[in-house]
Amino acid sequence: MSLPEDAKQLIQGAVQGLMGKAVALAPDSWIPGGKPDPLIRHQHGHIGKPVTRVDGPLKVAGKAPFAAEFPIQAMAYAAVAHSTIARGKILTLDVAGAEAAPGVIAVMTYRNAPRLKAPPVFLSDPKAASGDNLPVMQDEEIHWNGQPIAVIVAETQEQADHAKSLVRATYEVAPAVTDIEVAKAKGTKQGVFMGQPLHNAIGDAEEALAAAPVTVDAHYTSPGHNHNAIELHAVTAYWQDGALRLHDATQAVAHTAWTMAQMFGVDEKQIVVTSPFVGGGFGGKTLWQHQVLAAGAARLTERPVRLVLSRESVYRMVGGRAPTQQRVALGADRDGTLKALIHSGVTPKTATNVMPEPFILPARSAYAAETMLLDVQIVELDMLANTFMRAPGESVGTFGLESALDELAHALAVDPIELRLRNEPDKDPTLGLPFSSRNIDEAWRAGAERFGWSRRNPVPGATRDGEWWVGVGCATATYPYYRMPGGAARLTLTREGHAIVDIAAHEMGMGTATAQTQVIAERLGLPLEAVTFNYGDSSLPGLVLAGGSQQTASIGASVIAAHRALVKELLKLAGNDSVLAGLDPDEVGGQDAGLAALDDPDRHETYASILARAGRQTIMVEAEPPMPLETQHWSMHSHGAMFCEVRVNAVTGEVRVSRFLGSFDCGRILNAKTAASQFRGGIIMGLGLALMEETQFDPRKGRIMNPSLAEYHVPVQMDVPQIDVMWTDIPDPHAPMGAHGVGEIGITGTGAAVANAVFNATGKRVRDLPITLDKLL
Ligand code: MOS
Repeated sequence: MSLPEDAKQLIQGAVQGLMGKAVALAPDSWIPGGKPDPLIRHQHGHIGKPVTRVDGPLKVAGKAPFAAEFPIQAMAYAAVAHSTIARGKILTLDVAGAEAAPGVIAVMTYRNAPRLKAPPVFLSDPKAASGDNLPVMQDEEIHWNGQPIAVIVAETQEQADHAKSLVRATYEVAPAVTDIEVAKAKGTKQGVFMGQPLHNAIGDAEEALAAAPVTVDAHYTSPGHNHNAIELHAVTAYWQDGALRLHDATQAVAHTAWTMAQMFGVDEKQIVVTSPFVGGGFGGKTLWQHQVLAAGAARLTERPVRLVLSRESVYRMVGGRAPTQQRVALGADRDGTLKALIHSGVTPKTATNVMPEPFILPARSAYAAETMLLDVQIVELDMLANTFMRAPGESVGTFGLESALDELAHALAVDPIELRLRNEPDKDPTLGLPFSSRNIDEAWRAGAERFGWSRRNPVPGATRDGEWWVGVGCATATYPYYRMPGGAARLTLTREGHAIVDIAAHEMGMGTATAQTQVIAERLGLPLEAVTFNYGDSSLPGLVLAGGSQQTASIGASVIAAHRALVKELLKLAGNDSVLAGLDPDEVGGQDAGLAALDDPDRHETYASILARAGRQTIMVEAEPPMPLETQHWSMHSHGAMFCEVRVNAVTGEVRVSRFLGSFDCGRILNAKTAASQFRGGIIMGLGLALMEETQFDPRKGRIMNPSLAEYHVPVQMDVPQIDVMWTDIPDPHAPMGAHGVGEIGITGTGAAVANAVFNATGKRVRDLPITLDKLL
């Protein structure tokens, strides 16, 4: 019997749920992070410094090879033709014209593509990376409008692109569900996310809402969003003696290698995926059909194949964020104490993926409401599989929740920051777990002071500067701390005092390589120049996803494990003649290119001295971190307080964001420069979410109508004001290095902060994203 993916996930989730209870009750000392990482205590080393990117010189010199830049002999270039119907069968597929076009080597269709197994969908296995589980070019069936129907391989990209225009297809059209409202009328299903139902109930929230003296009950919507990383999805694929080499732009090298191996029926080790540099991922650079098609075309043509998706092909083949329809209802006492918090609604997904946009996630831990009802219902559409996109859930969930908080503050005539602080929970409201580290009150206090919040006029529509209304707004930002299982690291130390760390991690522009170089140097007591951090290659140890803002914690835990193994080895080698004799691995740390007793730094021996005495040139260890049980023992989150000033043109309705401040509480900040860039980048993406980003999906045909940056707008230079960022820098005692992720939190809260500022400026409450000028006139 084969169970549907949802059911398997629910069963897995139930088992994890039982485990979770035991983990919650276990003593702290049994849990990873139960003893604080000694690095948290280091105050004057590399950690926190605004170290410039280690890969900066390579990048500005054009010497950092991205996926489509590996020079390979006899390269062929590919382009993809897409279906124009949402569901049905290919009736005729005429590729003669394309085959006869200049430079064309082959046209791959379902008729001649290599026979492949269906891809294991993300979460179906710890190593699965696919956005859905649909077969890739194996038969006539069409599952979404935009599905690849032919891959043209030619001597040049231009020839491939031209030949693509000559492919002719006719279809037998089948009825498709492409309209959310039509699907809703037939009923909805419980959304399930990471094996858990997207449902929480505490008490009777509807009853408490009805009894509350002050209420807000409103609907908020967010449209679909498409991934628009500057680097297009790109892959270079070639086969050699039955082994596949893939230069990919990916957030998951090891997952991709394993998943492709399942599909092609080859051993996992026969597929090597490298991805040393990625031009932005945001959740979109996982395994989609293009890598499989490129590898298939390379096998078919016996040529190395490069497939760089056109921007349109990215829209047709790479899933984005699904739209949401949210209800947020808040009931409060007159002093603002929340008696009821309801956050519920509907989002569409496909039947072939496991990612309902989980917009209730922020409400699970944000406020201490007496009663709660949180619920995500789904409908299934015939469309391209939706997927993870920067802070899935939190980005659009905070729009609804934090807009409603602002509406409640207005109804109560209470300052919106004060309202939030009055409802600050002392433990996680839905899990009942203690918070590992939550200093959101400090983020609010410091942010309000820097922003000049006290100068705000709480009366909407009261501040005018010529033809511009001016207003300010704020919102809470929040994103969980995750650490996924499967990490591992190899650590090599040379007698010259050089450390090399190998781990199958990723650099998508966040500064991973730089921050990790700092962490490793600090932990080992070495200068930055003495550390080499190797990553972006599936043949390196570890299963590390650059997603969920968890890479820093994941690599950190792996490096801690490897370092501990190294220290053990070194102490053994040092032996009884060393000043370190008798010390336990827990009692020493890295210092001045050697080991030192933590409580007596004068007991110190250099690595060079230890290795020389042992007659060793190098020492190499590999280790895995413990399971990430800390996430089930504490409630762990990054936090932020967002402040926005807008100017709204009274004549045209145009909104300009004139000032923005993000005040963050994300544990210890490892690199002040790269972290600030992450915060700013997230906020900029949040401004796009607030004001312009919108996938135009035709509900009649299920076709995306604006598949280009000319028609799908993202913020450009002139849309982005001075963005100020600050942080508490208070370490989480239970996280590696005391650090939380910083990659996704910036987009959260930003949409609501803008909407709340627009309300303060104009008195108009826009509950439908994006806030375009037509909604303000
Ligand atoms: Mo992120 S949406 O987990 O890359």
